[in-house]
Amino acid sequence: MHSQAHDVGAPSLLETLRAGTALLHIALEKRLPFFSEHLDADGYLSLLRAYYGFYAPIEAALYEGDLIPEGFDPQLRVKTPTLVSDLHALGLNDAAIDALPRCTHLPSLDTPAACLGAAYVLEGATLGGQVLRREMARRLGLDADNGGAFLNVYGAETGRRWKDFLDYLARQPMDAQARPCAVDAARSTFSCFEQWLDSQEVLL
Ligand code: HEM
Repeated sequence: MHSQAHDVGAPSLLETLRAGTALLHIALEKRLPFFSEHLDADGYLSLLRAYYGFYAPIEAALYEGDLIPEGFDPQLRVKTPTLVSDLHALGLNDAAIDALPRCTHLPSLDTPAACLGAAYVLEGATLGGQVLRREMARRLGLDADNGGAFLNVYGAETGRRWKDFLDYLARQPMDAQARPCAVDAARSTFSCFEQWLDSQEVLL
């Protein structure tokens, strides 16, 4: 049977994910207020609370669902605990964090391919985080100890972890049926995140 995955010159999974999400990335990036002159400390805290409301449930679904293919180390890559540390540093206690609203409209992560698509988005976001970290340090004086750790969640390891993730992605056998599931989940991760942030009134 003819398999697209073996065509010479067929795009890699990474290329397909990039092409499928590029416009959604641009759209979300434009609406995030990190570069807005109006973003102050309170606005940053609201943004971080809203990030928590998305990352906590999506990481739980991704890592506790046990469908993500072997070779991805959730303990190394989980980002919600860093958001919790930032929220603590900004004055929230555990009870206040537990009481934060959480997104319930998440991408369905019911296949290994869908998990890979969502992981691509969450891992890729650490790259943009480097740009945002510098901006937040410059404008709001945020660093790893006072509420700015999430934007630099992998620190000096950011480039290495991304490369390791791309190697992992490239090793995944993926047939022509699974690939659209990965892209749909990646697209849905972007759109669910945007809708959630919008509902929390933190977007421009
Ligand atoms: C204002 C906010 C953002 C900015 C300025 C930004 C900026 C960037 C930049 C500069 C890169 C490329 C880095 C490189 O090639 O070294 C990147 C990659 C990426 N970002 Fe963002 N980003 C933002 C928000 C987000 C968010 C919220 C998400 C998802 C939750 C996201 C997901 C991704 C992904 C998946 C990639 C990897 C693309 C690839 O190379 O395949 N970004 N971002």
